[in-house]
Amino acid sequence: NCFSRIASTGSFLPKRAVSNEELAQDLAKIGVETSDEWIRTRTGIEQRYLASGEESTTYLASEAAKQALEAGGFSPDEIDLIIVATTTPDSVFPSTACQVQAILGASGAGAFDIQAVCSGFAYALSIADSMIRAGSAKRVLVIGAETLSRVLDWKDRTTCVLFGDGAGAVVLEKSDEPGILASELKADGTRGVHVLAADSHIDGGKVVGDPFIRMDGRLVFKAAVEKMTESARNVLTKANLATNDVDLYIPHQANLRIMNMVREKLGIDEEHLMISVNQHGNTSAASVPLALDKAHRSGRLKRGDLVLLQGVGGGFTWASVLLKF
Ligand code: ACO
Repeated sequence: NCFSRIASTGSFLPKRAVSNEELAQDLAKIGVETSDEWIRTRTGIEQRYLASGEESTTYLASEAAKQALEAGGFSPDEIDLIIVATTTPDSVFPSTACQVQAILGASGAGAFDIQAVCSGFAYALSIADSMIRAGSAKRVLVIGAETLSRVLDWKDRTTCVLFGDGAGAVVLEKSDEPGILASELKADGTRGVHVLAADSHIDGGKVVGDPFIRMDGRLVFKAAVEKMTESARNVLTKANLATNDVDLYIPHQANLRIMNMVREKLGIDEEHLMISVNQHGNTSAASVPLALDKAHRSGRLKRGDLVLLQGVGGGFTWASVLLKF
């Protein structure tokens, strides 16, 4: 029997934490009106971390990776594949994964990025699991890293208060014991650029299109609730398990109201919901691995616990991974 199991976790945040209060004051200076009260009641967000110029996506990803390697007692040359989920790479190419490989000195590893916005980490974890079970890799570093603040329009209050920067990582390794039990990757490209996008590219040395995140918040809200609920049921059914078997539910950390709505539809008790959106804001592909590491390091997540991870976001994409930690 060949399975893959999470051996260790790590995470990293930029130095600067910005409270709602402080953000509201900064935004007021450019004529944008918002408040701690609005942000908190609509989203559950209390603060977010914002990267400085030096704190690149590659840097955040590498530091989270170093923590995951250290926690598992692994040296970089024991890693045979690096997958980075990111929507905000520092360059078109080389990939963030290749840049992380160079920093870590993981010279024996293959490396590539995947792009599924806020579902990116769940996508990457599922790909790593498939490759391990197929015998093409033994130990994979899976990272979710973003500097989403770089694609925020600070004059658009419907988006700029929601996002933050950060990175999370896991080492996934071959195991005789079951780790990842089931996963599901889904997308609906027909709900693409009009719903949630940063719809631009580079041509002739110039940015063409709108470089900033634009979102129809209400449509995203509805779709997120519907798709996460459906997908959670699908992976539980695949693994012959029920919602009350779930010890820790880690949905994409975008909005506490979305998370609680899905949790209630599934019938998962409040005490089993992992919340970090209050501290981190929406960090896109980094949100789930950041929450996972936080849960593990705080003692909330123990070996043998059943964990349901979910991503949902731009594309439109959504994904679930059910695993024994
Ligand atoms: N501060 C103060 N007022 C605001 C702000 C703000 N930051 N933003 C919007 N408002 C105002 C609006 O202008 C509107 O005013 P109006 O009624 O006078 O027009 C009012 O607040 C209500 O706006 P709604 O859009 O109805 O607010 P809603 O309760 O739907 O919350 C939100 C908006 C938080 C964006 C919500 O729709 C949501 O969370 N959607 C999902 C977002 C999400 O999860 N996105 C990430 C997906 S992940 C990814 O892939 C990147």
